[in-house]
Amino acid sequence: LNRIGICKICVIAHNRCKSKEKYIMSDTKKQKLWQSDNGDGLHPLVTEYIVGDEMDTDALLLPYDIVASKAHATMLGECNLITPRQATDLCEALDKILAEYKAGLWVLEKEDEDVHTAIELQLVKNCGDLGKTIHLGRSRNDQVLVAVRLLCKNRLTQTLHDLLETAQLLNSFAEKHTTVPMPGFTHMQYAMPSSVGQWAGAFVESLLCDHMTLSGIMKVIDCNPLGSAAGFGTHVPLDRESTTKALGFERVQINPIFCQNSRGKFEAEIVHGLLQVMMTLGRLANDMVIFCSQHYKFFSLATSLTTGSSIMPQKRNPDIFEVMRANVHVVQANVLLCQSVGMNLISGYNKDLKVTKKPVIESFNLVVSSLEIVRLAFSSLKVNEVVLEKCFEDTSLFAADAANDLVMKDGMTFRDAYRQVKNDLDQLSCADVSAVIKNRPHLGATGNLGLEKYQEYIEVQRK
Ligand code: ARG
Repeated sequence: LNRIGICKICVIAHNRCKSKEKYIMSDTKKQKLWQSDNGDGLHPLVTEYIVGDEMDTDALLLPYDIVASKAHATMLGECNLITPRQATDLCEALDKILAEYKAGLWVLEKEDEDVHTAIELQLVKNCGDLGKTIHLGRSRNDQVLVAVRLLCKNRLTQTLHDLLETAQLLNSFAEKHTTVPMPGFTHMQYAMPSSVGQWAGAFVESLLCDHMTLSGIMKVIDCNPLGSAAGFGTHVPLDRESTTKALGFERVQINPIFCQNSRGKFEAEIVHGLLQVMMTLGRLANDMVIFCSQHYKFFSLATSLTTGSSIMPQKRNPDIFEVMRANVHVVQANVLLCQSVGMNLISGYNKDLKVTKKPVIESFNLVVSSLEIVRLAFSSLKVNEVVLEKCFEDTSLFAADAANDLVMKDGMTFRDAYRQVKNDLDQLSCADVSAVIKNRPHLGATGNLGLEKYQEYIEVQRK
């Protein structure tokens, strides 16, 4: 440590320094499930390297491992592989372990290797020989699969719910601003008359498509890998339908080798679905950065949602949407990570797969928090109607309308009408922008946004 208490090796203040010595001392404390008493212990650097920050994600898996362990114990009892009494006692002991963990009475440590080991060690510590009965017919390989699967199902359910909430809020926003004119852009230049309602409706429909995508992915992953053991099943006569029912899965994931091979593949699929949401939000975020800027001033964000500058007193910055834009790429990188790891390993379990836990959880967190920020921003977003209407003083926005009118009113061919308007661009005019917005009758155009159809989908899905 140097003079001010900073570790010279890792440059972290002393009380947070995770220098290796701490682990050299403590690694000998705990025995792994696979260790014997005669000193086949691990070098502490190996534990440090293999576990890394895995305990952060394993802490989130803990409640799911408890639930799955209870289902496994109950099934062992039903199949007379342990006594019914042992099964009930194990379930009670598992509940107690969870309660004690929540109360902070025990913690996960790197020396445990993973959450599954930690729970079994805790069971044995609390119940002696009873704790040693639970692992019949299972492996940590199917334990981690089922715990991750349950976590993903839970987070997917939450994400699907939040998607509907966000779509609902944006749909109400679109409805409220159906007739507020807004220029439509192509190539970042004025193109055609559009409206705030049409712009917002675009994101509603996009979010609902993402909802369909994620619902489909939920169907794919809704299968129970528990009972696949190390990846080949066992000769223990388990009842896999029983744990499937108890854990609320739609079906058994039948082939044990596929159970293992789906790790990484399913994660990639889920994160890819989550990326669709982030792609929707990335477009929205970029629009917000642009449309809230002083060049456009179409919208104003509430002051409490913008940040200031340390040097420029005049600034209020849309950091929330810039961070959101960047988070799209974090999730994109997570897709690549899961795909790459799950792509070309030899069939069965490989420890490589453990690195897919973090990107999945991070991606769920980013999607859920981004959706929440969108709801926050839009519930107080100010629409500057005067500014938006003033854009239409640039009558070039009506050029295509004028050509269409020459066809529909004067019977010209479109190409002749186009040429005529192109020759007289300086003569374009518009008396009533609001009428222009309302008088666009086909489905999807500004006069017929079809928002009620989005509403219908939302209500059906909410049931
Ligand atoms: N923590 C491990 C993982 O996430 C659990 C499975 C351990 N299995 C093993 N054979 N070491 O993959």
